[in-house]
Amino acid sequence: MIVTTKKLFEAAYGKYAIGAYNINNLEQIVGLFRGNLQSKAPFIIQISKGARSYTDKILLEGLIRSADEVYPDAIFAVHLDHGDEAAAMDCIESGFYSSVMIDASHEDFDTNIAITRRVVEAAHAKGIVVEAELGQLGGVEEHVQVDEADAKLTDPKQAREFVERSGCDSLAVAIGTSHGAFKFSGSQSLHFDVLEQIQKELPGFPLVMHGSSSVPQDEVRRINAAGGKIEGAKGVDATQFRHAAELGVTKINIDTDGRLVWTRVHREVFRDKPEVFDLRYPGKIFMQEYANFIAEKNEYLGSAGHLDEVREIVSK
Ligand code: G3H
Ligand code: 13P
Ligand code: ZN
Repeated sequence: MIVTTKKLFEAAYGKYAIGAYNINNLEQIVGLFRGNLQSKAPFIIQISKGARSYTDKILLEGLIRSADEVYPDAIFAVHLDHGDEAAAMDCIESGFYSSVMIDASHEDFDTNIAITRRVVEAAHAKGIVVEAELGQLGGVEEHVQVDEADAKLTDPKQAREFVERSGCDSLAVAIGTSHGAFKFSGSQSLHFDVLEQIQKELPGFPLVMHGSSSVPQDEVRRINAAGGKIEGAKGVDATQFRHAAELGVTKINIDTDGRLVWTRVHREVFRDKPEVFDLRYPGKIFMQEYANFIAEKNEYLGSAGHLDEVREIVSK
């Protein structure tokens, strides 16, 4: 059942976070649905602009519609990840997405608000909810001077004004994470102090944490042992998700970790089974491993086990 992220956030706020997973193809979709049902968790399917153009957006949407039929117990939102205004409007008009992200965080404050406001008006007219972003992810490194680093983090005071003026339904905040497999040059640092201040300014308002892959070191080791070259890859400590959830984070975005599962499975298969040329051989292993990965991630997020309770809430 496709629901809005708003419904999921109402159920989760302050208690746990919903996993938002990026998908691009059939095998990921199957693993995603299996893993969430296995762990009895509601979830968010994220589709980036790149995913929409990888094969064809109609094909990808069709796969998700079919998965909704094949797995009728699943409860999830379909969300555009990092949309620009054109992509967001296209998704709103398509009638398929229950949630869109407008990412105008690279623009100045007033322009970010103006763009977000336009998307919010179009989305709300169709019952679709909007995630916006304030602050800049990436490049917030340990070695950077504190004031420089702070300049990129979300300003809590601005956050309240941004939400009030833009009308967005949830806000992606920059609190020290970055996208990809190479996060944090020194030790891990999520700026919980900043998150706490944002929550004080916006009590009860759903916050979103991007760039939240954990980049498990065992995965990195196995990939490198099978011919990969991703030395030094590092991510967010997943044991910190629960604390983030207590401070208002209701959506945690994970893409890179899924890519690492795909890379490890395929590298190991081709290293250990050089005679294999049936794409279904690694495909089957990947779908199962991806499902296991999702189920484990949902334990860290705290969303595991909440599916029936969410079903009651959304059916009211
Ligand atoms: O934040 C970006 C996501 O990881 C999506 O990545 O644009 O390469 O699909 P992508
Ligand atoms: P990761 O690169 O840490 O998986 O972040 C994904 C993300 O934020 C998608 O919007
Ligand atoms: Zn992101």
